[in-house]
Amino acid sequence: FQSTFVQSSKTTHLSSSSVNKNNFENMKVAVLGAGGGIGQPLSLLLKLSPHVSNLALYDIRGTPGVSSDLSHIPSPGTVTGHLPGTLPECLAGSDVVVIPAGVPRKPGMSRDDLFGINAAIVKGLVEAVASHCPGAVICVISNPVNSLVPVCKEVLVRRGCYNPSKLCGVTYLDVCRANTFVGEAVGANVSVNVVGGHSGTTIVPLLSQTPDVSSLSQSKIDALVERIRNGGDEVVSAKDGAGSATLSMAHAGFVFVENVVKALGGEEDVVMPAYTECDVVKGCSFFAVPCRFGKSGVEEVMGLGKISEGEKGMIDDMSGTLASQIEKGRKWAIEAS
Ligand code: NAD
Ligand code: LMR
Repeated sequence: FQSTFVQSSKTTHLSSSSVNKNNFENMKVAVLGAGGGIGQPLSLLLKLSPHVSNLALYDIRGTPGVSSDLSHIPSPGTVTGHLPGTLPECLAGSDVVVIPAGVPRKPGMSRDDLFGINAAIVKGLVEAVASHCPGAVICVISNPVNSLVPVCKEVLVRRGCYNPSKLCGVTYLDVCRANTFVGEAVGANVSVNVVGGHSGTTIVPLLSQTPDVSSLSQSKIDALVERIRNGGDEVVSAKDGAGSATLSMAHAGFVFVENVVKALGGEEDVVMPAYTECDVVKGCSFFAVPCRFGKSGVEEVMGLGKISEGEKGMIDDMSGTLASQIEKGRKWAIEAS
């Protein structure tokens, strides 16, 4: 499977139905799966954000307690808890919906092993988003991200409200890991670009774009790439059956969502990596790349930038895998609809 590259791809997602808010005063974020390992610390961080005025927490269990607990924090935003039955109220008026609902891995499992159960969960939630806040930016954390974002697209297409600017898979944890591991190796703060998808070889760290890395040997660079790709497995194994990354994901999800909220509120030059629909790599209709966010969500897909031959090879090698994971989600959603 050979991919071709559009190095300076500038896919522009135009939105005619965007809600153009001009300040940070009135931003509602809904967290679906808010009672879980990611959902609770993510909700804590969002409650502390001055940019979130209304936080609405939904889960099939636990959210009355989580919201009561968070409501005692003297930050400006309000918080409400919702169980099945009040999902419409949770979603109504939301500007951003973040979805960490679903089952996490145990040792020995791949993210793809979660597909059956999590696709059904996320499909149901996105159907509700289509009914109650069709203009919201949807941020998908649940795994497998590579396949579930295409599921969401098909659900939204069938409901007549798909807007590519407003559907993102959250891959920012891979960037956090890369910044941490590479930063430790070079002894400096670094900003690493990680592209592709969010599992195994589909995670492609573009270390050639990080100047400090040139001081490292090729074997050290190869080991860093492997560690970044397997960061999720490292945590799954250390948690030994008790789930996967939750606290680092809450941090990554918070940084991602707060930046989306800031951009929706009018902040300029907000660039975050997102798994978005684009034509950056031929054959892969979704790909994680740096995106410029604005008042309508993803306003510009920035492309890969300058990459080395080795990185081009990594993308060539994984693009067939990513394409088939995208197709798996698309096909499942069409058959399930
Ligand atoms: P968890 O089991 O601790 O929490 C999941 C929560 O989802 C639970 O509270 C559960 O009640 C809730 N839930 C289940 N069905 C629901 C439904 N229909 N509606 C609303 N809520 C529902 O799991 P976790 O550790 O928080 O992980 C959640 C997901 O995030 C997993 O799929 C995991 O693989 C994924 N994840 C993704 C990344 C990433 O980088 N994108 C990182 C870590 C974990
Ligand atoms: C991660 O990268 O930590 C998540 O995708 C969870 C997992 O299953 O590894």
